[in-house]
Amino acid sequence: MGNPLGSERWRTVIEPFRIKSVEPLAFSTPEEREAALERVGYNLFGLKAHEVLIDLLTDSGTGAMSSEQWAALMRGDESYAGSESYERFAAEVEGLTGMPHVIPVHQGRAAERILFAETVRRGDVVPNNTHFDTTRANIEFDGGVALDLPDPSAADTQSEDAFKGNIDLQRLEACLRENPGRVPMVFLTVTNNSIGGQPISMANVRAARELCDRFGVPLFLDAARFAENSWFVIQREDGYSDKTPREVATELFSYADGVTMSAKKDAIANIGGFLALKDDELAQRCRALLILTEGFPTYGGLAGRDLEAVAQGLREVLEPEYLRYRIRSAEYLARCCWDAGVPTVRPPGGHAVYLDAGEMLPHIPPDRFPAQALAVELYRVGGVRGVEVGSVMFAGAAQHELVRLALPRRVYTQSHVDYVGEVIAAVAKKRSDIPAYRIVEEPPFLRHFTARFAPI
Ligand code: F0G
Repeated sequence: MGNPLGSERWRTVIEPFRIKSVEPLAFSTPEEREAALERVGYNLFGLKAHEVLIDLLTDSGTGAMSSEQWAALMRGDESYAGSESYERFAAEVEGLTGMPHVIPVHQGRAAERILFAETVRRGDVVPNNTHFDTTRANIEFDGGVALDLPDPSAADTQSEDAFKGNIDLQRLEACLRENPGRVPMVFLTVTNNSIGGQPISMANVRAARELCDRFGVPLFLDAARFAENSWFVIQREDGYSDKTPREVATELFSYADGVTMSAKKDAIANIGGFLALKDDELAQRCRALLILTEGFPTYGGLAGRDLEAVAQGLREVLEPEYLRYRIRSAEYLARCCWDAGVPTVRPPGGHAVYLDAGEMLPHIPPDRFPAQALAVELYRVGGVRGVEVGSVMFAGAAQHELVRLALPRRVYTQSHVDYVGEVIAAVAKKRSDIPAYRIVEEPPFLRHFTARFAPI
C-alpha cells in the first residue's frame, strides 16, 4: 500500500493531523472521584463529563471533526424537503455502498429499529457474527431471536487469529436449514464490536453471501466500523495488500443487500447514521416509518449540516494515513497493557482495547462483576473511564468479562495513551485488593446504562 511518507521507514506513527482548536482536560482529586463514584452508584455512565480525565467510554460520536467537516457545516442546506445536503450525502453513501436507497437517520439504532420493525416477525431468527446490544434489543423488541454465531476462534481471547470477528459458517448454514421462512436476513457486524473489535475477512463475507443466496435470504451489514475492517483486510488477508481502503470497502458492501450504519463511528461525525437498501419495496416501507418517527426522507432526524459532516467524514475515514494511525493507536495501548502484565483480547481490535478482567481478577466470580470492578478502579485511580462488556451488559449471558477502552477518533495523543498505560499499571499492582460488586437497582432493558452497584 503506497505511503506518502516513504513506506514504513519510520518507527513512529504520528497523528496525521495538527491541532487547531483545543479543549481543556478536567483534572480531579482522588477524593472528588470517590465522592462521584458513590453518587452514581458505581456506574460510570452516571458520571458528568467534567469528572472524567480521559474518556474512553466510547468511540461513538466522540471523534474530532476536521477543518473540512467544520467548513462543510456551513454548506448545510436546511430546507425541509429536497435539501442539497441530502443530495451530497446520498451520493457519497451510494458511491461507497452501491445502494440506491439512502435513508438518513439520527443514529445507528434508529436504522435498526426501522429495518427490524419492517422485517422481523415474532419468532423470527436473525443470525449475526455477534449482535451489538442495541441490535439485539431492537430484534427482541419485535419478538425476534437475535442469534450470535461468532467464529470458534473468538472463544479464546488469547489466540492471535487474524479474523476472529468472522461468523461461524457451519452454524450459519445449520441455522438457515433449520429455520426455513423464519430468517428475515443474516447480519454481519464489521468490525465485531462485542467480541473485541475484531475484523471479519472478505472470504467470510463472501461465503456468508453464498449461503444467503443458496437459502434465498438477504445479507445485511452493520457497517459502523467498515473502514477499520477494511484496513485489517488490507493488512491481513491474502490478495488485498495492494488495494486502497476504498476499494476494499466497496467490495465489502457489494456483497450486501442492505446496510445499517452509525455515522458516529467510521463517519467521524458527532451524530448521524443511515439505512441503505437495494430493495425498492422495502425502502418504500422503511421511508414511511421514517416519516412517522425520524423525519422527512431528505433529513431523517438530522440537520442538513449533519449530513454534510457525515459525507465528508466518510471520505476522510478511508485515507490510508488516517487508518494506519488509527489501528496503530489501539495496538500501542494494548502494548502498554501487556507491559503492565494486564491481559487483553488478542489481537487488539480496531477501535478499542479490551482488558480481560476475568483473567486479571480471578478472585471475583462473574456474578460479582469483575469487569465492572476493574472499570471502577481505573476511574478511581486515574480518572480514566472505560466500559464494562461482561455480565452486567449481557445480563448473565456474557462469554467474557471485559473492560473496553475505546479510542475516540483523532482526539487523544500518544502521551494521553501513555498516561492511561500508567494508570493501568498502577491498578494492576493492587489487583488482589480490588473489591467485587453487587447490583442494588436495575431497569428491565439495557441495564448497564442505569443500574446501581455497591461494593462487597
Ligand atoms: N452497531 C454497532 C456495531 C455499534 O457499535 C453501535 C454503537 C451501534 C450499532 C448503534 O449505533 O449508537 O449510533 O445508535 N456502539 C456504541 C459503542 C454505542 O459504544 O460501541 P448508535
